[in-house]
Amino acid sequence: ETTLRAAAAKAGLFFGVAASPGRLSSIVSQEFGQLTPENDMKPDTIATSSGGLRNTGNADTLVNYAQTNNMLVRGHTLVWHSQAGQLQGTSQATLNTFIGNALTRWGSRIAYWDVVNEALDDNNNGRRRTQWPHSLSRDANGDGDFFDAGDTDVIRNSFRRAKEVVQQNNLTTKLCINDYDVEGLTVSGGARNNKAQALYDIVRAYTQGTERLIDCVGFQAHFNDNPNSVITDDLQANIQRFADLGVEVHITELDIDDDLSNNDIGQGQANNYRKVVRACLNVAGCTGITVWGIADSESWRSSERGLLFTGGSGNYQKKAAYSAVLDELNKG
Ligand code: G3I
Repeated sequence: ETTLRAAAAKAGLFFGVAASPGRLSSIVSQEFGQLTPENDMKPDTIATSSGGLRNTGNADTLVNYAQTNNMLVRGHTLVWHSQAGQLQGTSQATLNTFIGNALTRWGSRIAYWDVVNEALDDNNNGRRRTQWPHSLSRDANGDGDFFDAGDTDVIRNSFRRAKEVVQQNNLTTKLCINDYDVEGLTVSGGARNNKAQALYDIVRAYTQGTERLIDCVGFQAHFNDNPNSVITDDLQANIQRFADLGVEVHITELDIDDDLSNNDIGQGQANNYRKVVRACLNVAGCTGITVWGIADSESWRSSERGLLFTGGSGNYQKKAAYSAVLDELNKG
């Protein structure tokens, strides 16, 4: 196959991209089978302080484009401590209202929603964030988990509400939890990745009991190309253990910075892209990969040359990383 979209489809997964309406040129539907609004479905754009919707025009444009071009949509994102806009500091009840409004606004036209984004703390301590909305959580018996009777838990409560809306409206939308620095079983240097473990514990707890609240797990995968690359050899094993819980795993925000210090003209980056694609292809439950933008110049980390194209709209040029991804997808 000659496009990422077709090669991925043949291999049984989707290959997608994050975009804003201004980036919707023909390359998007040609090369990509899935679309994530990079910014236009975030609460700071679409939520009112009472959990209503506003300003949904850009989101509509993206959803309509995807529908016209037979692309899947990933909604991004409902419950997040950052870019919370008018929801910042609000109650679980208001979050639940927003979850209901957003889910029903686009219904099954959204294949996957990031219900909870970046819930876990940094510094590899295996804890949840403490700032809002996690301040809505209460560990009743103080045992350090949130899985006991009497606990309140913004993650569980948000997924419960989302699942209820999906069921009441007969939606096909799948409900995902998404995070970064959770990709490997270990972190650079070989220590256990406690953030990945914490995510695993949450997904296990909310899928293996009587409630099946979580359908999919997103590994953001904002990676580096250098000797200490955070792409560890156990990426595939980590994807596999989540897939073994019966959830779909997605690589949701892939970019890999190109370390110029090794003078390899993008080859290290291309090899790293290959590794990520291979890890996903090797696990049946890894059902999609999304890159976080089209061209380097359009990326949130534009100085790091992390994407598959150079140039810009109307003049996109494929990089070595593009060829590596296409080649790996074509191997199936
Ligand atoms: O559009 C306005 C423009 O009108 C204004 O003049 C300018 C001045 O600051 O800001 C522009 O908005 C920026 C927007 O990107 C569009 O470029 C925001 O300031 C900026 O904060 C926003 O950054 C986005 C960031 O999330 C924060 O929401 C990035 O584009 C987006 O790539 C990034 O994506 C996140 C994921 O949602 C979650 N995971 C991490 C990932 C990377 O940070």
